[in-house]
Amino acid sequence: MLHENLKPFPDDFLWGAASAAYQVEGAWDVDGKGISNWDKYVRIPGKTFKGTNGDVAVDHYHRYKEDIALMAEMGMKTYRFSVAWARIFPNGRGEVNQSGLDFYNRLINELIQYNIEPILTIYHWDLPQALQDEYGGWESRKIVEDFKNYSITLFKAFGDRVKYWVSLNEQNIFTRLGYQTALHPPGVKDDKLYYQVNHHANLANATAIKAFRKYVPDGKIGPSFAYSPAYAATCKPEDILASENAEEFMNHWWMDVYAWGKYPKATWDYLKRKGLTPQVEESDFTLLKEGKPDFMGVNYYQTTTYEKNPLDGVTMDGNFNTTGKKGTMEDTGIPGLFKTVTNENLERTNWDWNIDPQGLRIGLRRITNRYGLPILISENGLGEYDKVEDDGTINDDYRIEYIATHLRAIQEAITDGIDMIGYCVWSFTDLLSWLNGFQKRYGFVYVNQHEEGEHDLRRIKKKSFYWYKEVIESNGETL
Ligand code: BG6
Repeated sequence: MLHENLKPFPDDFLWGAASAAYQVEGAWDVDGKGISNWDKYVRIPGKTFKGTNGDVAVDHYHRYKEDIALMAEMGMKTYRFSVAWARIFPNGRGEVNQSGLDFYNRLINELIQYNIEPILTIYHWDLPQALQDEYGGWESRKIVEDFKNYSITLFKAFGDRVKYWVSLNEQNIFTRLGYQTALHPPGVKDDKLYYQVNHHANLANATAIKAFRKYVPDGKIGPSFAYSPAYAATCKPEDILASENAEEFMNHWWMDVYAWGKYPKATWDYLKRKGLTPQVEESDFTLLKEGKPDFMGVNYYQTTTYEKNPLDGVTMDGNFNTTGKKGTMEDTGIPGLFKTVTNENLERTNWDWNIDPQGLRIGLRRITNRYGLPILISENGLGEYDKVEDDGTINDDYRIEYIATHLRAIQEAITDGIDMIGYCVWSFTDLLSWLNGFQKRYGFVYVNQHEEGEHDLRRIKKKSFYWYKEVIESNGETL
């Protein structure tokens, strides 16, 4: 629907930005931190862009005060960050590393001093390597107990000050890239295991949420799901069906479990016919239903368009653009169900991600209608090349345009009646992009960090920094 007037953003709307420990902290082996799966993976030749790693990242571990002062200058209302599990439990479980807790206490207190609401992500992909070595990490049910113990340790340590929590970041991505496409650690391609790993992650998620009620009764918790709403390539019924298949397979498969504690039927039956359904225990579904979140965290970057995929059609193996060379992303799919196709109506970034603000509104409407949960945009942003001009400025008008159009879509969704908690731009400072190194930048604040050449980690405010400051100051009126 076209609105004549838009509702204002709520007064308590959380304007913010997000990051993840591995991508910003650096300090990979200091103060008793254990080794994570990423610390190990990045050392395997050929796995990341030009072999980049997060040993230093943008050194947020040592520069968090400078970064938070910049957040305060911008007027940010919230900052979403993640805890590195291996800082708290170097071996994934056992003895707590007090220095790890101390770091996050300092970070949280610094945020609170500036009235910036902390949003804490428990798990943003950096698994203690010890757990991977011991029992295969997410491949074993044992992870559920260890994740619970780790989560409770965080609830007890920070629950007095942190009221917004994200349980798992993008379970659909870390499991798919870890076990279906082998692009992330542990670099495995095994469909059966992929669904099993997901089931364990679902159990871990529900267990943590259930425990949360006891330790942080006045807090709010939810997962962050990487939601790419499915479009049909044409109005041919076979393409509509393909997009329905994709919406169920790629989205409901996770969100239904989070919200309702059950897997969608057609997908379950399909996987059963293929011998791919996870092993489940009867009590699992009781637990999954008990772990209902307070909100759906949504990481939105783009929509995906689908068409019919024949039985001998493409698989999930297609090339993923990690070079920034436009046009190198290949189509993927599941034979007999769906395949991706380029949407000619949309512009794309240099990494072949579709730019589709309207898709965000569509996604928000779908989630609200299906689950009736409030929504936190836990990530949205534009990864692009940025250039420092001779006068030291960075004129990222393309980023301003991207964020502005997505915020307008959110305001339209609010006018539609969607219950929105807040909006976290990915990201505040530039940071390490897992597979794309430092050349794919997302921040409001440029960090002089590169694969090659001089890198003194200097922070420089981009044009978008000043722009977002005004947006926050006016509670979205200057959009
Ligand atoms: C999300 C992740 O998938 O997208 C972030 O939660 C990630 O950690 C972001 O950095 C952008 O992805 P990329 O591949 O461009 O860094």
